[in-house]
Amino acid sequence: MKTPYLSAQQIQNFHQNGYLIVDDFASEAEIAALQAESHQIIEAFDFEQIRIFTTENQMQHMDTYFLESGDKIRCFFEEEAFDKSGNLKIDKQLAINKIGHAMHDLNPVFERFSYRRELLDIVKDLGMNQPLIAQSQYIFKQANIGAKVNPHTDSTFIYTQPLSCLGAWVALEDATTNNGCLCAIPGSHRQYPLQQQFIRNKMQTGTEFVDTLEERAKWPIDQLIPLVVKKGALVLLQGEVVHSSYANRSTQSRHAYIVHLVDASCKWSPKNWLQRPNDHPFRDMENVVHQLNR
Ligand code: FE2
Repeated sequence: MKTPYLSAQQIQNFHQNGYLIVDDFASEAEIAALQAESHQIIEAFDFEQIRIFTTENQMQHMDTYFLESGDKIRCFFEEEAFDKSGNLKIDKQLAINKIGHAMHDLNPVFERFSYRRELLDIVKDLGMNQPLIAQSQYIFKQANIGAKVNPHTDSTFIYTQPLSCLGAWVALEDATTNNGCLCAIPGSHRQYPLQQQFIRNKMQTGTEFVDTLEERAKWPIDQLIPLVVKKGALVLLQGEVVHSSYANRSTQSRHAYIVHLVDASCKWSPKNWLQRPNDHPFRDMENVVHQLNR
């Protein structure tokens, strides 16, 4: 029997609130390595991948670019960062919205951090039997232009039967109410059944939201509370907890790295936007942790 990483109180808090903050999860050295690696990924990024010549096919191109990113490392930019001709208006390091969605499996630095034994212990403490990391994202929340994220639940985007999505969000910089920290409605995962699913459309050419309930309840968004955390903190988010973040209009960026896990004993929805090709399946977290620590 392994020693729990989390205390009984922390586990109870997670189930009660739908989120849990674990301070000092990532070290200064780990954070510096992740930031340096993301810098390299952006430097090496080939802009021809997203350069579009007519606005007509731009949407389709971006949909395809997104849908194919589940087993790749791709860069996504802030819309406001481009001029009408599709050229970047600002330095690409400052124009990026996020990198996704498989650096945990493709990039050794992100792999080492994502498959830390402590994270495996934590998600098992929270009740996962056979965790696997479904996706990873480096979120930049740039100073001045970082876009807001509307209230949502992560199981909407990562749907299994039964539901099993768990987010593990790591602050790579201090997250405050000024630079757009996470906000969550405590206990909302227990009060509101999943309302929507984000899926591939029938033609597999784009995505859409579909209602999973006859009638949607209105979330009490006035009950969103800010999760102010220091650099290095880990925030665990239950898949049905309602959360969001404000736009960043401050002069400080708010970098974060997040992985979303699911339980392999639950059925991955064939409708999920994220699909892995047969030759690049999801990896069992426990196996990878053992391999990396051998
Ligand atoms: Fe989320």
